[in-house]
Amino acid sequence: MSREVIKCIECGKEYSSDEIFYACPACNNLLEVILPLSDLDRDSLRTAFDSRPLSVWRYRELLPRIGRQSPITMNEGGTPLHSCSRLGERFGVGNLFIKFDGMNPTGSFKDRGMTVGISKALDLKVKAVACASTGNTSASLAAYAGLANIGCIVIIPSGRIALGKLSQAMMHGATVLAIEGNFDDAMALVMKASEELNLYVLNSVNPFRLEGQKTAAFEICDQLGSPPDILVIPVGNGGNSAAYWKGFTEFKKVGLSEDCPKIYGIQAVGAAPIAKAFERGEERIEPISDPETVATAIRIGNPANWKKTIRAIDASGGTSISVSDEEIIEAQKMIAEMEGMFVEPAGAASIAGLIRLLESGRLDRDRRIVCVATGHGLKDPDSAIKNSKKPIEIGPTIEGIRAALHI
Ligand SMILES: Cc1ncc(COP(=O)(O)O)c(C=O)c1O
Ligand SMILES: [Zn+2]
Repeated sequence: MSREVIKCIECGKEYSSDEIFYACPACNNLLEVILPLSDLDRDSLRTAFDSRPLSVWRYRELLPRIGRQSPITMNEGGTPLHSCSRLGERFGVGNLFIKFDGMNPTGSFKDRGMTVGISKALDLKVKAVACASTGNTSASLAAYAGLANIGCIVIIPSGRIALGKLSQAMMHGATVLAIEGNFDDAMALVMKASEELNLYVLNSVNPFRLEGQKTAAFEICDQLGSPPDILVIPVGNGGNSAAYWKGFTEFKKVGLSEDCPKIYGIQAVGAAPIAKAFERGEERIEPISDPETVATAIRIGNPANWKKTIRAIDASGGTSISVSDEEIIEAQKMIAEMEGMFVEPAGAASIAGLIRLLESGRLDRDRRIVCVATGHGLKDPDSAIKNSKKPIEIGPTIEGIRAALHI
């Protein structure tokens, strides 16, 4: 028997976490995992966490209980919180950090969620798992399904996911189904397939995924010694931003931190239903039918978790804005050239957003700021090559080098 329950974010009805739901059977709204946090003692938690290496499962007392002896894990999490002195100096921010979650086993933050999600799938004794994906979810799910020896089906928009991600899903042995249409179409199809074909869906509508992802917030608190003032994070489906907020608020509830950061959710201009809702001052989105951006990971027009993330960002006192593809690529280059980190375009959206927020005077430069870089740059070599200086073709001579360097 699990100690946690799943609860509807709208009507508050609670359900057993030993049953499979992706939405509230009573009102069709999103579900979240509720842990018995008041039973936990702050000092014992601190001692337990400090006895383990930085990782998702370091925080196991704050995660759903896994019935098996041990979770399906590749030691995800424990990613670097990189202090960005050069970028900070350039933009006049004294305390700027990037949480490089592209350093997870398959190169994105999704692994944090999959270790919990796949372990739960085995507890539930499901035969096969499935997801719709802009790329990273399929790469991660395929890897963890292989590790767990369980069937895996991924549905992707044909010809529209980055090469690195596609190659991962294929190499890890998933059945890859490419549909005509975009991510939102793939998402609708996988939900339908879950009912008719009895597949366990591990998209971020599965509340167990987000439990794993919230550990990035715990790690940041522990890496800094206390929470940052500001968290800037890319937003696609809205699961990760909601997961961070859950993490920060739970750390505070159990007495391990005193504050929570303001969350700034960054979208790409061509796929920005959540940023637009904030612009309009409304609590609901208007879906976009044909989303477009170079940041393929966040090319999403109808975000499944919009309600959770709008509430999370609002409750934190932050907001959501959008940035152009040019700003995203510019930020990606700056992070690579000045801070040594190769992040994928969606991952660079947070820094692009930060720059925009600073320049428009909406953020104080004296705050302690963490930007989340969600995915590794090697995921999308096509975009990197297209947007960088081309190699200079020379003959194999010193003269060739001199000519290229104009010396
Ligand atoms: C690299 C990267 N960044 C950001 C996101 C957006 O996260 P979410 O959909 O949880 O908002 C994704 C989702 O696929 C991603 O792969
Ligand atoms: Zn409900």
